[in-house]
Amino acid sequence: MGRIKSGEFRGKTMSAEQAATFIVDGMNVGFSGFTGSGYPKAVPGALAAQIKQAHKAGLPFKIGVFTGASTAPEMDGVLAEVDGIGWRMPYQSDPVLRRKINEGVTDYCDIHLGLSGPLTASGFLGQLDVAVIEITAITEDGELVPSSSLGNNLLWIETARNVILEVNHWQSADLLGMHDVYYQPVLPPHRIPIPITAPGDRIGVKTLRVDPAKVVAVVETDAPDRNTPFKPLDDQSKLIAAHLLDFLRHEVAAGRLPRGLLPLQSGVGNIANAVLAGLLDGPFDQITSYTEVIQDGMVDLLDSGKMTVASATAFSLSPQYAEKLNDDAAEYAKRIVLRPQNISNNPEVIRRLGVIACNGLIEADIYGNVNSTHIMGSRMQNGLGGSGDFTRNAYISSFVTPSVAKGGAISCVVPMVSHVDHTEHDVQVVITEQGLADLRGLAPRKRARQIIDKCAHPDFRPGLEEYFERARRVAAAQHTPHDLREALGWHVRYLETGSMKP
Ligand code: COA
Repeated sequence: MGRIKSGEFRGKTMSAEQAATFIVDGMNVGFSGFTGSGYPKAVPGALAAQIKQAHKAGLPFKIGVFTGASTAPEMDGVLAEVDGIGWRMPYQSDPVLRRKINEGVTDYCDIHLGLSGPLTASGFLGQLDVAVIEITAITEDGELVPSSSLGNNLLWIETARNVILEVNHWQSADLLGMHDVYYQPVLPPHRIPIPITAPGDRIGVKTLRVDPAKVVAVVETDAPDRNTPFKPLDDQSKLIAAHLLDFLRHEVAAGRLPRGLLPLQSGVGNIANAVLAGLLDGPFDQITSYTEVIQDGMVDLLDSGKMTVASATAFSLSPQYAEKLNDDAAEYAKRIVLRPQNISNNPEVIRRLGVIACNGLIEADIYGNVNSTHIMGSRMQNGLGGSGDFTRNAYISSFVTPSVAKGGAISCVVPMVSHVDHTEHDVQVVITEQGLADLRGLAPRKRARQIIDKCAHPDFRPGLEEYFERARRVAAAQHTPHDLREALGWHVRYLETGSMKP
């Protein structure tokens, strides 16, 4: 019987090629997948081949792609390569898709991850025609055991007209019990309080339900999640992590944080992973996490006993750690809870728990506005992800970045950000390898002093000083002084000369 224990569902097994024929031009498709885990491994490739054939025959074939977050080359990559994605939301990080978005081939709707599911369920984004969902197994009763990400799967299954299931034998069967699938209305006026008061609280059930009549195909796969290994920790990341840990130590000493801190949210990427590694040697015990993705560093913290529980919606593990997790999933299920992303990223819960948020940025300006998504104001990098869900509602919101990019040609601290994702009202702490600016309670001009003095690279500090002084001379008012003729001059200089340096 294998992993498909329900006879009704076994009768619907077919090849990925057959299953892909349920998707046609103009459809909206909700795929599983979140930060490279739990995305379907076979149907997207088969669909891409069918799209390519249609284009060869001069026929139109583009779909709308809805996911949890980023996926992998086998999904976003293959579909983007054949110009098959007309519209995409809510987050991506694939190099081919990124190129198509920046060429204007794909329309990209960069949406808060916690909002993306409810927004779809509300109907604002059109009807979801098909859901393609990776799962681990189907029980005798036809219940679906979720895979290595839960993401928007529940809402895609409930909202879509038809459902295609991919049962991936590579995922550990012991994932059963790790998920907390919460069935409550996601739309007003029927919403009720979400009863989570601690990161480890379980408020739902272990499996997903589906109306069997909606399931048009079941495809069996045996393929690993694809995640890139993290870079070895470099000195810069270690310095950034050390500044943050010093700050947290100071907050504990001042009585503003408990000794075990408050639940941590850690963004994606190498620096976030370095912060987690720093916690391993730090003084804090009984740490918890209420976050979006579980990375290698968090697994180490759980292994060490320093972290007692981690709540997220997905894994984002290097191949080595993914194997480790798979080998010991039953044990990890005691301390890891995977939730739907409208719960992991829910403002109500984040605010109640008092999460300490830490995310990456592309550039910050001297007043504390943050750009997380756009290179030089126009080019999309990845997207906002959950950074807004957490930053806006955190107890402490922090951002981490190296002070310079592109070998020192670009300052990540600029007079004015070329695009705003997080406003000065939500950004409390900015950290580079140079130092940490605590912006809480500071009026804009005092913030500028902190950011220039503590975070800017010495090569760019004099230029920022000069800008700030000039802005104070020429601005029409002294609350947030800007020289509007020059505010984006650094970006223009980079675009014209390849360096922000004068
Ligand atoms: N100006 C221009 N380019 C810049 C730049 C700047 N100020 N800062 C970074 N870059 C470039 C880098 O050079 C790099 O370019 P490359 O891909 O051509 O090498 C690219 O942007 C990515 O930078 P990198 O330092 O490798 O990024 P990272 O892995 O540390 O991630 C973000 C930083 C901001 C891109 C990433 O954190 C992100 O996507 N954040 C938004 C989503 C988010 O916060 N998710 C977590 C929520 S739970």
